[in-house]
Amino acid sequence: MNAGAQFGTTKHRASDGFESTFAINHLAHYLLLRLVAPGLAKNATIVITTSDVHDRKQVPIGPKELNPEALAHPKDKGGFMPGMRAYASSKLCNLLTARAFEASLNAQSNGVRVIAYNPGLTRGTSLFREWPWWAKLMMAVASRLRSTNTIEQAGNAIADLGLGTIVPPYGRIYASLVKGKLTWPDPSELAQSDTAMRGLWVESAQMVGLPEQVQGRVTEAFSQKMTALRHTRDTVTAGSPYSTQR
Ligand SMILES: NC(=O)c1ccc[n+]([C@@H]2O[C@H](COP(=O)([O-])OP(=O)(O)OC[C@H]3O[C@@H](n4cnc5c(N)ncnc54)[C@H](OP(=O)(O)O)[C@@H]3O)[C@@H](O)[C@H]2O)c1
Repeated sequence: MNAGAQFGTTKHRASDGFESTFAINHLAHYLLLRLVAPGLAKNATIVITTSDVHDRKQVPIGPKELNPEALAHPKDKGGFMPGMRAYASSKLCNLLTARAFEASLNAQSNGVRVIAYNPGLTRGTSLFREWPWWAKLMMAVASRLRSTNTIEQAGNAIADLGLGTIVPPYGRIYASLVKGKLTWPDPSELAQSDTAMRGLWVESAQMVGLPEQVQGRVTEAFSQKMTALRHTRDTVTAGSPYSTQR
């Protein structure tokens, strides 16, 4: 699940009213995953493309907190920085979705491998096509100053992960391409938050009109997480962001 867009603004809306970055980068993948999940083959591999911009420790625009409703219907004026922050948050959503699906009965009982893949800054793709000219110019300069990956390296890595030529080390879900080499770092603290993971899963299900559970049955571990989430949601006021509480 690799499709993605950056608008450099939060002004665009999908036809159902969701902010376009959130709709394309997160909700569409979430919905697709939920729809294909029941038909996945045993030992299938799901790769969801994320980005290291989800991590504040890597890039300052990375999200401090996650508030799905605010991402879905932002109230800011839609400038370039809000657009960049919306993109970074959508990439956090990709990581949290990967973690939540990995914990689901479907993935666990069918041996489904789930990977959140960061291709790293990759020059020459169309990702920045909607940016204003001055931002494209700044990116062109910045990408000469810092290390970038080539399209070939980024494409080969996602192919290797999808085909199982490269297998994640035990307990690792986040694959990050750094200087052309795959690494398996910890994702950001917020991406490791179970509260944020469960909250995003449930709110996304509500947004796309699906039940919380994959296939209507859940593992004991997932069920416990969902029960805990319901408790969390009862004690959190509507619209409150998820922080790094785990
Ligand atoms: N390039 C980077 O530096 C970088 C870094 C980290 C992560 N990523 C991630 O890597 C993934 C691939 O990006 P890329 O750099 O290869 O950019 P890209 O060349 O623009 O590719 C993005 C792809 O997503 C598709 N897409 C965009 N909006 C869509 C929509 N509404 N419906 C269906 N398809 C849509 C595009 O299709 P069309 O061309 O037909 O519109 C295109 O095939 C994205 O998830 C991106 O966030 C990229």
